[in-house]
Amino acid sequence: MSKYLPLHTNDVIRGIPASKILELEKRFGNGDLSRAIEYARLAGPFKVTSPWELEDPDGLSRINASGYAAIPFGERYPPLLDFIRQYLDQSPVMGLPQQSLGEWRAVLEHNLVKLLTSVAPSHADSQVFFSNSGAEAVESAIKFAKAWRPDGKYFVNFQRAYHGKTLGAMSLTPNEEIQGLFHPLALDTLTLPFGDLAAFEETIYHKGSDNITAVILEPIQGEAGVIIPPQDFLSGLDRITKRLGIPVIVDEIQAGLGRSGYWFPSIEWGGMDPDIITLAKPLGGGMVPVGATIARKEIYKNMLGGLACKRHSNTFGGNSLTMAIAVKSLEILDEENLVERSRTLGEKGLIRLEEIAQKYPGLISEVRGFGLWYAIEFQPVIPSRVSFGHEDLVGEFTSMLGLMTLHAAGVHANLSMNCHRTIRLTPALNIPDKLFDEMFDRVEAAAKRLHKASVMLIKTPPKSLLDLTRLAFDL
Ligand SMILES: Cc1ncc(COP(=O)(O)O)c(C=O)c1O
Repeated sequence: MSKYLPLHTNDVIRGIPASKILELEKRFGNGDLSRAIEYARLAGPFKVTSPWELEDPDGLSRINASGYAAIPFGERYPPLLDFIRQYLDQSPVMGLPQQSLGEWRAVLEHNLVKLLTSVAPSHADSQVFFSNSGAEAVESAIKFAKAWRPDGKYFVNFQRAYHGKTLGAMSLTPNEEIQGLFHPLALDTLTLPFGDLAAFEETIYHKGSDNITAVILEPIQGEAGVIIPPQDFLSGLDRITKRLGIPVIVDEIQAGLGRSGYWFPSIEWGGMDPDIITLAKPLGGGMVPVGATIARKEIYKNMLGGLACKRHSNTFGGNSLTMAIAVKSLEILDEENLVERSRTLGEKGLIRLEEIAQKYPGLISEVRGFGLWYAIEFQPVIPSRVSFGHEDLVGEFTSMLGLMTLHAAGVHANLSMNCHRTIRLTPALNIPDKLFDEMFDRVEAAAKRLHKASVMLIKTPPKSLLDLTRLAFDL
């Protein structure tokens, strides 16, 4: 045993008890996050029993509808694993070709721009910059925009948007829980209601279009709980910004590459032709982190032209393993028709979810869906007439209890960062039909058992409730 490294890779391969993992995570990592999921009884660690199913340490099976929309093919999807093995065995490329050409990077750049051009021909000359996360893709977009419009004072963003938590991206994510400790923020913003074209036009008119650095938006808001704007909002916004020469950044990190049922929903569904597009999550095939920022040639060259090509860079962006996996992930999405499947299966699932919501109005206040991307909004576990101004806290508890309820029913779901009382289901785009139906059966069984949101509270083990309350109040 090493003097410095108490645990060895072989220990993990052989298996470390769940209790020990929990102890290590609580002690050495983001401990209170581990505590929260422990108290909520959904900490795992999970064993992957099929690409779409997880097994808890308690031996129960869960359908995986989590992963924050970053798991397009489920976990350990055999075609992707086979490809990674093939890459390791047969592709003797440099891992970090920073100062050299990279074959996998070149192919991904080419394929991404061609894919985009197939729906937005004006992007034929566009170029790609790679990074290592969604937030970093947004940071790159911010820099492209600022370099392009140095005299701009404000970014226009939208209420309940989510663009990440690095300093720049966070300042475009209007949520005091996230921004609160960090004022003054890195960027000045004009935060407008999402979907309100008149408010947008009026603000631009009052502030002066020259003062706007760029507009940034998600075509469908993910962390806000799958919020779908009126369709003509996107095309209208595109028309106004084009007329005034304001660049538009579309953040398709969650919505794009299939989750919404479109490769590029802002373009294909919304009728936009944005100037900068950010992608991440599914591009990594659920295996590796990756961010991509695609910008029009003139914007790209303005920041990175000539000797300024080094002005923005990162060590790991464009590394060969990630690029290869991303090339393969796009290929699987394409060859297995998963984008279209997300649209058609997504519509079928939404009908089912709406039926469940109609049957149990005391539990579910609303459902939304777009592609294989669903939001379930619960009624508050404590009605607002008796929550005495603590609606936010009740909202957070409701989300947590909703998550726990579905977990107990056999569905592993997502919280939503920018809204309360809402959990999201983001199953893999290739989830087998039978499991897809089963997922809704399980949601319905839970709804039938509970009927009312307050029952979620009553049925939660008192110890979990107490522990969660202590954590919420930092006691
Ligand atoms: C629309 C959008 N933009 C940006 C991000 C940030 O991505 P990451 O968590 O990889 O930094 C997310 C993450 O959920 C997102 O949904």
